[in-house]
Amino acid sequence: MKSVLNIVLLGPPGAGKSTIAEDLVHQLPLVPISTGALLRAEISARTRIGREVAPVLERGDLAPDSLMDRVLRARLETLDPDQGLLLDGYPRTMRQALGLAAMLADYDRLLHVVIAIDVADDEVVRRLSGRRICEGAGEPFPVHIDDLASIMRCRERGGRLVQRDDDRPDVVRQRLVAYHQQTAPLIAYYEEQGILRRIDGSGTPAEVARRTLAAVRDWG
Ligand code: AP5
Repeated sequence: MKSVLNIVLLGPPGAGKSTIAEDLVHQLPLVPISTGALLRAEISARTRIGREVAPVLERGDLAPDSLMDRVLRARLETLDPDQGLLLDGYPRTMRQALGLAAMLADYDRLLHVVIAIDVADDEVVRRLSGRRICEGAGEPFPVHIDDLASIMRCRERGGRLVQRDDDRPDVVRQRLVAYHQQTAPLIAYYEEQGILRRIDGSGTPAEVARRTLAAVRDWG
């Protein structure tokens, strides 16, 4: 087995997985893979996969496991074996967790640590229903509607604020249902394997990032 670190970020929608991933990749030699971002890219490019999953994402449901396995495998094939993996949003079902173990074995890799981020449902709804994406001003970045400084920063750069279709309150609630029913059971599964680290996802993004880094280093 290769000695590169392979990590999964697990948590409800809006837990801060992508925010944490952005920070971790500056601290450790990891390649971030967000399955949500991969699906949104397929939707934007109007591929066959994109057309299939667009209505699923709009409802706040999970895409089929078999399709997700194909999407992830295609992404893994492009990776250098010396690069560590930071999986954001995969696995999300028990079938995906079993599929991931098999896929990693095919690539001579092991899953080393799973970070489970704890955030209350109310906070998820607050973050996501108030989230807008600043687009058209370089790299898109998230803005909360209560954060006037970020809104001004977006406007001054000539960007516009766009809401993700699945950040509408009714869809956020469905994403939470999918999380609690299908993804949360993975916490016990990885705990039994002894590779789970739970972190408190409240506080500022910098505080959460520090806790995550400490949890990863604690593993090593
Ligand atoms: P995906 O894109 O993965 O969405 P998600 O996990 O549901 O939620 P987010 O990406 O919105 O949340 P996040 O935890 O990354 O938080 P973020 O850092 O953005 O998936 C979208 C959809 O694709 C799914 O619903 C499903 O349909 C499908 N899909 C994807 N993977 C799949 C799979 N494996 N199987 C089946 N279907 C799949 O932060 C959220 C907001 O909060 C941001 O505005 C951020 O700025 C803010 N924030 C972050 N941290 C903090 C903090 N500490 N305090 C305050 N605000 C914070």
